[in-house]
Amino acid sequence: MAGRIPQSFIDDLLSRVDIVEIIDRYVPLKKAGANHKACCPFHGEKTPSFTVSQPKQFYHCFGCGVSGNAISFLMEFDNMHFVDAVEFLADRAGLEVPRDAVASITPSQQGLFDALNTCNDFYKHQLKEAPKAIEYLKQRGVSGETAKRFDLGFSPDAWHALTEKTSAPEAFLLQSGMLVRNDSGKTHDRFRNRIMYPIRDRRGRVIGFGGRVMDSSEPKYLNSPETPLFQKGRELYGLYELRQITRGSPERVLVVEGYMDVIALAHAGINTAVATLGTATSTEQVTQLFRETDELVFCFDGDNAGKKAAWRALNSALPCLKSGRDARFLFLPDGEDPDSLVKSLGAEAFMQNLHANSIDAASFMFQQLEMQAGLDQDKNSTGNKARLAEIAKPLISQIPSGVYRTLVEEQLHAKVGVTVFKPQPVQQSQPDYRETTTRQNHAVGGLSPVRKALIAILDTPATILEIDPEEFEFSIDIPGAKLLMDIVSVVENKPDITTSSILERFRDSEQSEALHKLARAGMQSTEESEIETPLQLLQHAIEQLKKDTLRMELKQSSSTMQSPSSMSDSQKDQLRERLKQLKNNQP
Ligand code: UTP
Ligand code: MN
Repeated sequence: MAGRIPQSFIDDLLSRVDIVEIIDRYVPLKKAGANHKACCPFHGEKTPSFTVSQPKQFYHCFGCGVSGNAISFLMEFDNMHFVDAVEFLADRAGLEVPRDAVASITPSQQGLFDALNTCNDFYKHQLKEAPKAIEYLKQRGVSGETAKRFDLGFSPDAWHALTEKTSAPEAFLLQSGMLVRNDSGKTHDRFRNRIMYPIRDRRGRVIGFGGRVMDSSEPKYLNSPETPLFQKGRELYGLYELRQITRGSPERVLVVEGYMDVIALAHAGINTAVATLGTATSTEQVTQLFRETDELVFCFDGDNAGKKAAWRALNSALPCLKSGRDARFLFLPDGEDPDSLVKSLGAEAFMQNLHANSIDAASFMFQQLEMQAGLDQDKNSTGNKARLAEIAKPLISQIPSGVYRTLVEEQLHAKVGVTVFKPQPVQQSQPDYRETTTRQNHAVGGLSPVRKALIAILDTPATILEIDPEEFEFSIDIPGAKLLMDIVSVVENKPDITTSSILERFRDSEQSEALHKLARAGMQSTEESEIETPLQLLQHAIEQLKKDTLRMELKQSSSTMQSPSSMSDSQKDQLRERLKQLKNNQP
């Protein structure tokens, strides 16, 4: 569905973001010489072999062999799709992702977006002319400024306002759920005489609405139905508004239940709340939120329904938990919601209460499970302990392996007194890349000249600028020469390109993996005793490639050599010249 993102944009993006800053948000990095290091987030280890190079904008783990650039990191660590990773980075860099001529959305989707936008404009305008709606918002403590930030509106008390007073095509109004068709086939406005809350996607486009009555009639809220643009389990009310106002990543994001909770918190100055849309929190929503922050605090009612909602949120959050992240749970006093609480306490006391009374994911999980197992009644019963182990196992198994998971496993072991989870095996199935790269490195001399040249270029692309472009003319029959020449021309056209951007160009190509290996080999060689500088390595490789080219040409003409009579004089001269060159070149 999405149009292709132009390569030039990806180049530009990778040159603007800093991989150290991006990775450091997920995995705290420490400076170590020219690089930054951490314990690898992709496999368990005690001494750091995960290395990030700022000049190359490239990471590599000498333990398990993963490597890549900022985009790959987000794709692998955060399970983002390619386009999401690009959008995430663009957002951080303050860039808008352009799309090629291929439209990123279909005409019918565009029609829906346009219709919803028209409705939104209409409702906003109607609010200005509806004193009782303004009065209602005022009485709920919503200022004009806050109403504007959330684009609040008002749907007039009429059955056909949208068709009569806006230019939006009826077909799109129907498809987006703004109109309802009754049994006799007639259509009318879904939302009438309600305060309107537009729901926006991550890019700020209106994808649906919530509408609230201004008295105690039922139903209190009406919401847009699910449409091709609007899936409740994927969207979060207030996420776009949060992203607009919080530059960088907020320390935590609050997940609340109601539209008005988000708005009241924002009005009080707590701009980091989002609401689920009357559905259980999904893993997809949690994943989206962990892209914004490392800590989620679910604020739910203290009653049974709230506990149930929290339990479902916990289940959705488990697959997203890892070191450096946490999901916390705050249960509110009876009859309170974040809206009422922030009004009575004020923002500061609200946050203090949140810090003091929220509990972390593991504590909440064990609290609930211990109750289920009967351990709250009899904490020494062997049967109850066994039950706890049984019911905890499938939940803990949802946490990705790593330090966080190990800590939760250890908590379970302490509670039941025995080991339930076997200690994680030490990455036996992973090939030992450390050995291969070291071996490769010691044997740089034994590598093919194409490989040597690529190692040098991927280490320091700018070394190419020190070499006369004519030197890069090799026989295309040398294995890998075509790839080498492609990369040389990429760097010649963009002399300040980083290793990371070069690799990005080859992301989907067959050579991608081989190039990553060569980039890693380069990282190793700058770390340890340096035998040759990248320039020396490249120069030597080129000398050898020129010799190989000459040899190949000679071999090709060897058949003609046997019958020199068939050669022209100039061909003979050329051949003599080449032979001389080859002789001189040899040590
Ligand atoms: P609440 O009733 O807690 O919402 O329902 P609220 O935002 O606090 O409402 P008021 O204005 O202060 O009374 C939580 C959420 O559940 C959904 C809405 O998304 C609402 O924000 N809901 C609730 C409905 O969809 N329909 C309803 O009739 C009630
Ligand atoms: Mn409320």
